[in-house]
Amino acid sequence: MKKINIAIDGPAGAGKSTVARLLASRLGYVYIDTGAMYRALAWKALQRKVDPKNGPALLSLLKEIEIRLLPTERGNQVFVNDTDVTTDIRSNEVTAIVSKISQHQEVRTSMVERQQQLARHKGTVLDGRDIGTAVLPEAELKIFLLATVEERAKRRHEENCQKGIPSDYASILEDIKQRDELDTTRTFSPLVKAKDAIEMDTTNMSIAEVVERMYELAMERIRS
Ligand code: CDP
Ligand code: CDP
Repeated sequence: MKKINIAIDGPAGAGKSTVARLLASRLGYVYIDTGAMYRALAWKALQRKVDPKNGPALLSLLKEIEIRLLPTERGNQVFVNDTDVTTDIRSNEVTAIVSKISQHQEVRTSMVERQQQLARHKGTVLDGRDIGTAVLPEAELKIFLLATVEERAKRRHEENCQKGIPSDYASILEDIKQRDELDTTRTFSPLVKAKDAIEMDTTNMSIAEVVERMYELAMERIRS
């Protein structure tokens, strides 16, 4: 059967990584979590005390390290060189600086090249902020996922509570609002819906409903 590439973009907590992983598994495709790559660089920058505002220093740090994404049933296992950073890249410290790290053009150019390499054989589902616009502008299926900011913060809060991670709804809401602002207003490839992307508001949709709809859309493209 023909293989396609699928781009899923949208703001934090819209459900991108959850549905991208399930869709990839159903299609037998590879799921690539591009946000994890920016988080891995942010993690390394914190460790090395590199200023998140210093684009050239971040680029040389990025060139020094190897970021690897290993597909697993629960998502991508993330390595920086030989260190498993899968859990650490979700820390509040990383979350607080990642949208500053992702502002720099030199960082983005290098990340985009890596992501395009990972998708070159097709049969991939990538999720992020600029997949449909910059990473895979030729993707056969582009989805732009949305949900209200309150619903997205609630989802993150509930996820933390389920995992036993201390969580405060108000500060999650504040973090998501701040990242939305930085991600949508940055100069280089801001978070914006690609012209040919299909918008899906998931505020009142279950995960299963979103995956089913995406699967139908993917199969239409695969069969065409
Ligand atoms: O999972 P969550 O929505 O919290 O964020 P993420 O997908 O892990 O991405 C973390 C941050 O990386 C985002 O807030 C963006 O600043 C940046 N990012 C980006 O600029 N471009 C991408 N393709 C993916 C993530
Ligand atoms: O990757 P992104 O930041 O867009 O969101 P996510 O990490 O996939 O989803 C955030 C949380 O919302 C997860 O705990 C999902 O299980 C949940 N979710 C949901 O409740 N309903 C949906 N339609 C999608 C995700």
